[in-house]
Amino acid sequence: MAIKPILRIGDPRLLLTSEPVREFGSPSLLALIADMEDTMRAANGAGLAAPQIAVALRVVIFGGGPTPRYPDAEAVPYTVLVNPKLRALRGGRESEWEGCLSVPGMRGLVPRYRRLRYRGFDQWGRPIDRSVADFHARVVQHEVDHLDGVLYPTRIKDLRKFGFVEELFPGQQLQDD
Ligand code: NI
Repeated sequence: MAIKPILRIGDPRLLLTSEPVREFGSPSLLALIADMEDTMRAANGAGLAAPQIAVALRVVIFGGGPTPRYPDAEAVPYTVLVNPKLRALRGGRESEWEGCLSVPGMRGLVPRYRRLRYRGFDQWGRPIDRSVADFHARVVQHEVDHLDGVLYPTRIKDLRKFGFVEELFPGQQLQDD
């Protein structure tokens, strides 16, 4: 379909609460997901939420294996997740470095639940129900936050652990966004 511009932090559309999808398998939903796939792949992202391309619907995509941004991450299956519901499982929280295509060139240390159950639907309305941990759980929490207008910098506990990739990790060949 098309590579769309990714909204950047400061754009008020990233702060909206997105609406649930009410019809699965519709041409407009399938077109949205195709645009999101093209946009995420072009940007080498680990995930993308519909509001990042200015569509306020509860749709996220993520996964597809290690990316240049997260070369050490375990493979997360490529997933389309619509109308997600999250529940933290026992295991507490863990802080890790996160980036976001809407906050290009930066990283922050963000606490997330280590273990998570998520439920929702794919684009055809087929149910998804998974219990996951670590990077997979982190990506889902990050993407679903976008649906509630939450960007990761607001979750950083110590803002000294936030900055430009080149300054935080000098000399490392990390991608720009
Ligand atoms: Ni993001």
